[in-house]
Amino acid sequence: MPDKKAMTAPLDIRGFQLFPGFLDRPAQDALVAVLRGLLRVAPLYQPVTPRGQKMSVRMSAAGRFGWVTDRRGYRYEPHHPGGMDWPPIPEEVLAIWRAVSGVTREPECCLINWYGEGARMGLHQDKDEADFSCPVVSVSLGDEGLFRMGHEERGGRTESVWLKSGDVVVMGGAARLKHHGVDRIRFGSSTLLPQGGRINLTLRVVT
Ligand code: SIN
Ligand code: MN
Repeated sequence: MPDKKAMTAPLDIRGFQLFPGFLDRPAQDALVAVLRGLLRVAPLYQPVTPRGQKMSVRMSAAGRFGWVTDRRGYRYEPHHPGGMDWPPIPEEVLAIWRAVSGVTREPECCLINWYGEGARMGLHQDKDEADFSCPVVSVSLGDEGLFRMGHEERGGRTESVWLKSGDVVVMGGAARLKHHGVDRIRFGSSTLLPQGGRINLTLRVVT
């Protein structure tokens, strides 16, 4: 991870702050190894929307809370759907938050989204948290993903950027409640994950 002095200023896209290549390849490899251990404790599962539609991403989480969705709705839960506690957020992940979030509070959830071939995430707002003064920090690993950014209100023109492995996005301030989503991934575009796919971590203060 770059030290604070060496950190280059982020690109600002509608208030979304993009740190391209924030994690170098060794840091990405180390993070993947940590996540593999974590997913053995809290396996990826297939989430279902409140309307009963299977999501195309697979999910898990770390921290005091995991964000979950099922027929009962969108919410944060202190346990994995399998009943176990979520594992703690790894230090490597907390270090990213501390470097870019700009807040002293620590994240209480690290949502893990895994995108296989054809997976996507529709435009949405992150609004199940209690304190919107804290940003959501996103970390991308593996295949490139086309990240779309819109407005607080529904509709209007959107802007897209391909997020690459190692990129970090801070969604705070003016962008905290803006719609965003992932239209598609370029399956096999990165060598980070031998089987292909994209992992996105989002760090959130929940309470
Ligand atoms: C999300 O908004 O939950 C995920 C964003 C991403 O995958 O880049
Ligand atoms: Mn989101």
